[in-house]
Amino acid sequence: MSEPVTATGVGGRTLRFAPRIEALLARHRGADLFRLEPDTVGVAGPELMDAVLRSRPAAAEERPTFKPVRKRRVSRTDAATYMQAVSADVRRALQTPVPDALDLTGTWPQVPHDYLRDLVFGEERRRFRVLVDRRLELTPKLTWSAVTSGAALLPRPGAQVPLSRLAGLVLDADTYADRRYAMYLYRRVAAPVCFTVAALVTSAVWLGAPFDDTTPARHLIAEALRLLPPSWNILRVASPEFCAVDERIGPGDDLLLLPLLSHRDPALFEEPDRFLPERWAALDPETHPGYLPFGPASERCWGRHMVLPLAERLLDTVRRTGLTVSADQRVGKVELDGLMEVAQVRVVRGGRS
Ligand code: HEM
Repeated sequence: MSEPVTATGVGGRTLRFAPRIEALLARHRGADLFRLEPDTVGVAGPELMDAVLRSRPAAAEERPTFKPVRKRRVSRTDAATYMQAVSADVRRALQTPVPDALDLTGTWPQVPHDYLRDLVFGEERRRFRVLVDRRLELTPKLTWSAVTSGAALLPRPGAQVPLSRLAGLVLDADTYADRRYAMYLYRRVAAPVCFTVAALVTSAVWLGAPFDDTTPARHLIAEALRLLPPSWNILRVASPEFCAVDERIGPGDDLLLLPLLSHRDPALFEEPDRFLPERWAALDPETHPGYLPFGPASERCWGRHMVLPLAERLLDTVRRTGLTVSADQRVGKVELDGLMEVAQVRVVRGGRS
C-alpha cells in the first residue's frame, strides 16, 4: 500500500483515513470507472457520473431521506410537508441572536451537534430529542426502539409547551401506526440537520482553523465539502439504463459514484489534496465538473439551503471567538462508515484575543 494521503491543513495537521478509503484514493484516483467487486463498479469521471445520474431518477430505496419507512412508501406530498416543517424550524432558529458568551470549545463534532440540536429543536420533549442523538447511529435497532416506544408513549403536551413544526406533525398523527411513521420521518429530517452540519463544520475547522478574517465562510465550506464530502458516495442499484451509458457496465452491476475521488482528481482541481478555500473565488461550486457534494444537478439535496446558513453561523462563531484545533492534536482520524467526518477533534480557544 502506498503512503497515506496526508491532506495537510493549516498548522501541519494530517488526516488519517480508514484503510478502505485510503485504498480507494491510492488505487483509483483519476480513473473514470473501475471495478470494486464482482457486482459493483466505481464511477468517478465527471462526464460519466453526470451521464449515469441523468440516465434515470433515483429509485425510492436509493433516497437517503425519503426511502420507504419499513416498507411504507413516502409520498411526494409527505416528503414536501416534512421538508417545509424542518425548514421553518431552521429559519426560526437562524433568527435567534448568537449569544456573546457562546462557548463551543470541547470535542467536535459532538459540541456543534449538541449546539444545533438545542438551537433548532431545543424546547423539544425528550421523546423527540432522543431521536437526534448521536448514539442512535450505532444500530438501526436503537432507532427502531426509540421510535416505537416514543410513538406509543407520546401524550400531547399542554399548549404552553413550545414545539417545533416537525414535532407538531408527529403529534397530529391519528393512529399509532401513523405516529410511528411520522416519528421515523422526524428522525430522518431532524438528524441530518445536526449530524451533517456538525460533520461539515468539524472538517472545516480541522482543515483550516484558525481562520483569517478575509476568507468568506462559503469558500471555507465549499473547500471542506470538497476534501471531506460528508456524502462521499452515491449508490445506484443495477439498472438497464446504465449499460446504455457505458459498455463496461454490466446488467447486474451496482454503481458507486464517488465524489470523494472526483473532488481530489488532479485533472479537475489544482493541488487537489491541499486546503485552499481561495480557489472558490474563481470556481463555481454549482457547476464545477465533478464537484457534487450535494448530489447531481438534476436531483440536488433538498437540505442544502438549511445546511449552508447553519454552517456559516457556526463558522462565524468559530472565527469571532478565536477557536482552533488544540496544538497537541496533529492527526485527525476519518473513520467510517456512514458520514465522512473527522472524529474526536479537540477544539480550543487559541492564539487570538
Ligand atoms: C452537509 C450536509 C448534507 C450533504 C453533504 C447532503 C448531501 C446529499 C446528497 C449527495 C444527495 C443526493 C443523494 C442521491 O442522489 O442519491 C442528497 C439528497 C437529499 N438530501 Fe441531503 N445532504 C446534506 C444535508 C441534508 C439535510 C440537513 C437534509 C434534510 C433536513 C437533507 C435532505 C435531502 C433530501 C430530501 C434529498 C433528496 C433525496 C431523498 O429523498 O433523500 N440533506 N443530499
